[in-house]
Amino acid sequence: MNSIRIQGGIALQGKVLIQGSKNAVLPVLAATLLTQECSCIRNCPRITDVHSMVCLLKALGCHVCWQERGIVIDSSRMREGELPQEAVTGMRSSLCLLGALLGRCNEVVMEYPGGCVIGERPIDLHLSALRQMGVEFTEKAGKLRAAAHKLHGAHIRLPFPSVGATENIILAGVMAEGDTVLEGAALEPEIRTLCRFLCCCGAWIDCAGENRLVIHGGRRLYGTDFTVPSDRIVAGTYLFGCIGAGGNVLLEHAPVEEMGAVLETARRMGGHVCVSSEGIYVQAPERPHSLELITAPYPGFPTDLQSVVLAVQAMGDGCSHIRETIFENRFRIVEELEKMGACIERKDSRSVTVRGVRSLHAACVEARELRGGAALVVAGLMAQGESLVRGCSYIYRGYENICRDFRELGARVTSV
Ligand code: UD1
Repeated sequence: MNSIRIQGGIALQGKVLIQGSKNAVLPVLAATLLTQECSCIRNCPRITDVHSMVCLLKALGCHVCWQERGIVIDSSRMREGELPQEAVTGMRSSLCLLGALLGRCNEVVMEYPGGCVIGERPIDLHLSALRQMGVEFTEKAGKLRAAAHKLHGAHIRLPFPSVGATENIILAGVMAEGDTVLEGAALEPEIRTLCRFLCCCGAWIDCAGENRLVIHGGRRLYGTDFTVPSDRIVAGTYLFGCIGAGGNVLLEHAPVEEMGAVLETARRMGGHVCVSSEGIYVQAPERPHSLELITAPYPGFPTDLQSVVLAVQAMGDGCSHIRETIFENRFRIVEELEKMGACIERKDSRSVTVRGVRSLHAACVEARELRGGAALVVAGLMAQGESLVRGCSYIYRGYENICRDFRELGARVTSV
C-alpha cells in the first residue's frame, strides 16, 4: 500500500472532517513524560509519526494504549532505556524527547533525529539554548548524550523562531529550577497548545509579550485530560486541493483562527471562503488566480503548505512566484510536476516561477517527503487521466487517510 492511484479531473464536493494536528500532538505526547501520572490525550491522529512516538514512550517504560481516538499514557513507571533507532531517526519530532527527558531524568542518549529531507535541519539552536540551562552535550558511540547536573532557568534569546527549539526550551524549562525567560520564541499555534497542555498539568508559563515567554520552573506536574486541536496543515491541503481540482467543500472543524494567512491566500487565488461554526466552506474559482507567495514563520504563510500551492499554481491563470524562506530544498516536487506537464522555472534553491498551463496530464510520480507527497496527490486530482503517486509512506506520516478524505469529497482515489 505504498502508492496512491488517482483518477483526476473530477471536481470535489461534500464535507470532510479534519483530523487532529500532528505537530501539536507530538510534543504534547512527549510532555506527558513530565507528569509521572496518567494523562488522556484526545483527538490523536492515527498517523505513523504518532505510532513512532507511542513506540518511543513504550520503550521508555510508559504504559500507553489507544482508546478510540485518544491515547492514555501512564508515565509513572518510566525507566531510562535505549530509544529504538528507527523511531528516533524516522521523524524530527523525536527531538522533543530531548527537552522532556532532560526535564524528567536529567540525562538522554539518543540518535540524531531525522524527519523529512527538506534541507539541512541543524539542531544548533536547541543545543545552545539547553546549554544555557546547564546541559552538557557529548557524543557517545555516534549518539548524542545530553546530561545536566541540575537544570536551571536562563535568559535565552533565539536568533530565529525555531518551533522545535522553543518546544524543547519549554519542556526543559517547566522542570528547571528558577525562571526561564525566552525571547524570540516561535509563535506557531502548536507552541500555544503545548503551553496550554502543560498549564493544565500545573505548570506556570506566562506569555509576557508577542514572542516572549516566561517559564516558571520547578512546579510539580499532574496528569490531565486534554484534546488536541485540528490540523491546520491538513485543512489547508484539502482547501487548496479544492481550489486546484474545482468544486466546493466544507472542512469540518478546521482550526479557522490559526489559518489567517492560509485563508487570505486562498481568497487571493480566487477561492470563495466562508467561515462558520461548522468549519470552512470553500468554493473554487474557474481557474486559480496567479500570485506571489512568500513563506514565513507564523503568522505568515506556512512552509508546510507551500508545495500544495505550487502544485495548484501549475494550472494557475498566469505566472506565479513562490519564495521559500524557512527550508532550503523544499522544491523537490518540481521535477515530478513537470512530468505532468507543469511549466516551472527554478530561480535558485529558494524560489520558483510557475507559468500556469491550461491542463495537466496524468503521470507516475514519486513522493520524496511528506508535504510534497500530499501536493502530488492534489496534482493528480487536477490532472486528466489516471496518475500514480509512489512513495506514499511519507504521506502517511502526517495524513491519517488522505485517500478516504478525498473520497469523502467525491474523488476517485485508492491506495494500492
Ligand atoms: C516544525 C514543524 C514543521 C514545520 C516547521 C516550520 C514539527 C514536528 N515540525 O519543524 O512541520 O515546517 O516547524 O514551521 O512541528 N533551524 C536551525 N537550527 C536549529 C533549529 C532550526 O538552523 O537548531 C532552522 C531549520 O533548519 C529551518 C528553520 O530553522 O531552516 C525552521 O526550523 P524549525 O522552526 O525548528 O522547524 P522544526 O521544529 O524542525
